[in-house]
Amino acid sequence: MPSPPVFMHPMFTCKSIAVVIPVFAFAITLGSSLAAAQSTSAAKSDAGDAGARTYKTYCIACHQENGQGVGGAFPPLAGHAPDLLAWAGGRTHLIRVALFGLEGTINVNGTNFTGAMPAWDRLDDKSIAAVLNHVLTAWDNKPRLPAGFKPLAADEVAAVRAESLDAKRVFALRQQIAPAPAAAANNAAPIALSFTEAQAAQGKAAYQHNCMDCHGTTLDNGEFGGAPLRGAYFRNHWGNGSVASLYAYLKTKMPPDRPGALSDKVYADLLAFLLHSNGYESGGRELPTDSQTLQSMSLKRD
Ligand code: HEC
Ligand code: HEC
Repeated sequence: MPSPPVFMHPMFTCKSIAVVIPVFAFAITLGSSLAAAQSTSAAKSDAGDAGARTYKTYCIACHQENGQGVGGAFPPLAGHAPDLLAWAGGRTHLIRVALFGLEGTINVNGTNFTGAMPAWDRLDDKSIAAVLNHVLTAWDNKPRLPAGFKPLAADEVAAVRAESLDAKRVFALRQQIAPAPAAAANNAAPIALSFTEAQAAQGKAAYQHNCMDCHGTTLDNGEFGGAPLRGAYFRNHWGNGSVASLYAYLKTKMPPDRPGALSDKVYADLLAFLLHSNGYESGGRELPTDSQTLQSMSLKRD
């Protein structure tokens, strides 16, 4: 995705027209600058926006539109991604994170995050490269990139894919290259996961109403492309993270035509239903909706 030629081209056109027809130079330069501005942004969005689109689909629920993440739950990528790239081995690390996920306590600019990022290995090499290039250049990240930065390429992703790591292993390898963090405040103690039968039952009703068309009667037999919501697929995506990840995902992405349209309580009920359907034990305490508490509840089973 070489953007420099795209940038150069309209300026070139603009200049040569001005030189060739000096009489109308002003008018034409003005007109062609407008055209140039338009074609620049059109061309730029063709070139760069596969990455932006992939980000919107797969990353925004947690890392947010502005790349700031969510305090205590999802680390920022704005400001952070170029730092990762600057580590020895950082380029490979970024690709690993996107492909295989990341699980462990990381420190980003003094804040600890103990979460699990799901793997995105179902995205192809080109999409992984594009989304990482987007993350590296979006927001105010571009000026922080090392001079001579070369965008990640699909064949680099293919090479890392062959390592077939898992999220814990990616974390272990990260430990070897991450600079020691400044002594950081630690996260809250874990809180045991809990939801009630009544919540799961209400969640089931909300599911039938809002989700079943796409995700199916058994949560894995949807007709309109809804991903499986139970079994190994669910476990691989969510089973190592905190409840906050899944809650944030539901609330920011589902149902796809009106994300966030349901109340917090209904999202918590839906979450209880999904957990129930995946064999988690119900208990005496309701599943809460505040992200701080959800962040302290792990979906990991011993
Ligand atoms: C369900 C929530 C979620 C989604 C969706 C998600 N991430 Fe993450 N991401 C996390 C969490 C949580 C962490 C921190 C993991 C940890 O604490 O070990 C993280 C960390 C990262 C990091 C920092 C890694 C480091 O070593 O500091 C990068 C880069 C990243 N994610 C990129 C992406 C990209 C690109 C996408 C989309 C393809 C994406 N994430 C989608 C939750 C998510
Ligand atoms: C219009 C169809 C549609 C409806 C309605 C819908 N979903 Fe989805 N859902 C999808 C699709 C498609 C995906 C896969 C999205 C992706 O991979 O980015 C998905 C993904 C998910 C995932 C993540 C699965 C994974 O592990 O990757 C969860 C959880 C989820 N939906 C829950 C719900 C819940 C709960 C509702 C009801 C409030 C709902 N969905 C309504 C289509 C739908």
